[in-house]
Amino acid sequence: MARIPDAFIDDLLARSDIVEVVGSRVPLKRQGKEYAARCPFHDERSASFTVSPTKQFYHCFGCGAHGTAISFLMNYDRLEFLDAVEELAKRAGMEVPRETNPRSQQQQDDSRDLYTALDAASRFFQKHLEGSDKARAYLDGRGVDADTRARFAIGYAPDGYSALKDALGKDERRMKLLDRAGLFSKNDRGHVYDKFRDRVMFPIFDRRGRVIAFGGRVMQKDDGPKYLNSPETALFHKGRELYGLWQVRQANQKIERLIVVEGYMDVVSLFQFGVTQAVATLGTATTPDHAELLFRNAPDVYFCFDGDNAGRKAGWRALESVLPRMKDGRQAFFLFLPDGEDPDTIVRKEGAEAFDTRLKQATPLSQFFFDELTREINLATLDGKARLAERARPMLAQIPDGAFGDLMKQELQRLTGVGRAPAGMAPAPVRRAPTAPVQKRSLVRAAIALLLQQPSLAASLEGHHAVAGLRLPGIELLLELLDLVQQRPDISTGALLQHFDGREEQAALHRLAAIDLPGDEASWAQELHDAITQLEKQLLQQRVGELQAKQRQQGLDDTDKYELRELLKALAAMR
Ligand code: UTP
Ligand code: MN
Repeated sequence: MARIPDAFIDDLLARSDIVEVVGSRVPLKRQGKEYAARCPFHDERSASFTVSPTKQFYHCFGCGAHGTAISFLMNYDRLEFLDAVEELAKRAGMEVPRETNPRSQQQQDDSRDLYTALDAASRFFQKHLEGSDKARAYLDGRGVDADTRARFAIGYAPDGYSALKDALGKDERRMKLLDRAGLFSKNDRGHVYDKFRDRVMFPIFDRRGRVIAFGGRVMQKDDGPKYLNSPETALFHKGRELYGLWQVRQANQKIERLIVVEGYMDVVSLFQFGVTQAVATLGTATTPDHAELLFRNAPDVYFCFDGDNAGRKAGWRALESVLPRMKDGRQAFFLFLPDGEDPDTIVRKEGAEAFDTRLKQATPLSQFFFDELTREINLATLDGKARLAERARPMLAQIPDGAFGDLMKQELQRLTGVGRAPAGMAPAPVRRAPTAPVQKRSLVRAAIALLLQQPSLAASLEGHHAVAGLRLPGIELLLELLDLVQQRPDISTGALLQHFDGREEQAALHRLAAIDLPGDEASWAQELHDAITQLEKQLLQQRVGELQAKQRQQGLDDTDKYELRELLKALAAMR
């Protein structure tokens, strides 16, 4: 995919007004320096959602949602990054730079042709469902009504080896396309034939409603694998797609929850019975890409599995994929069904309401996590406690900073008694912007917070940040920020944050950016200056420490001695 230059994103954000972007979708009320609203990303009575015109970002103190104009469009309009950028550029009257080298143009044309071929195949299968008594009888037998067949564009791939090939592979070029779309198989002698034969066909749509692949089900047992899926192609990567997501988006204004099920028919039946938020992974475990996609679409995700051993294993894999994505405001639940049932059979037997009730009783991630880890551990013994701590710690470390992670760590501590809670661990979700004085945070954090909130302050630091090499957490980040800001002193907080999109530091940066700093620009400039000076001093002390250690171990040569004297002089001058 063509990469958009950072400089363009900076310009775009500089020329967009987040208040306008959000305000055209959510009613905003002026409140001091900021605007407030009821958060569009979680249910609430009060208005914890704020939009800052000066910082050019939004932040919800209730659920932790935050971001720039771009991320707002991604989350609210559910756009992909590139589409959100397009949308914003249109508003600002800007042209998104396109890569113009002939190869990428070629690639774009190629994918367009591929989409067309897949769409033609899907229509071909749908047409043949009309003509096949057997396939229609199969769907009747499974209780799939006409509406649902149409909504999911269910079709039928005729028997024989060349129905699709004969109908759509009219020339060399089209044959090639169908092949690249994954619709053919090839035998040992190189003979090409239809991959899907005598199967009920479920097209897989991408996020923009284009057919990118198929799953095909046999109608009788013993006709080969029950489901045959398209191979990976240029358009289809099964670890990144969710069956049914397109239909869910079409059916829901706002997606409150997503239910992850295992099969095509589970999605289809749930939908038909009015549970219109189900998606399926495509015969694979839940991948980290899936987890990201799920939470980008809904704050609450329910994973639904068989109640057997395999189901619990699959549940654990899903848990491993979501843990690193459990930002505050997101919730994951696990539902294990009775033996021999799947959502398709359950919803037909019990109806949508009963299924909803099951979901309401689903196990929260926190409980599933500790239940599973302690399954074969005796917590009454010291060794058991140690083992739990040992297993849980590296996993909990993956949870992004926030109340959820803190609570999980507290729970581990409660269960094991191991490890004091790190100082300053807040037990409850933050409701208000904390106004703690900057000095209470570490120097590095303080400097980062100041730079984020008032990037123009960096101008006063000209040539004044000899802190590289200092061994302190966050120092690399501080240097990176300083660098960015000195290149673009007029950058907004939001645009600055956008540079860290997708990086693990992003959540922490957002929190620092949202803090309500006491004081004014003059006092901030002073604080930043002081913080940097302190850090420079620490760097000198760090070097002194190194030299003194060397002195003890192996003695100093003349250069070392000279350096040490100079360092001590410089430090004395700073006092
Ligand atoms: P299941 O075997 O649980 O089938 O496979 P199902 O979903 O209940 O299907 P029906 O109700 O019998 O029609 C669950 C999912 O695993 C994948 C498919 O995505 C299927 O929906 N699968 C299963 C395959 O990819 N290939 C197979 O051969 C079987
Ligand atoms: Mn089934």
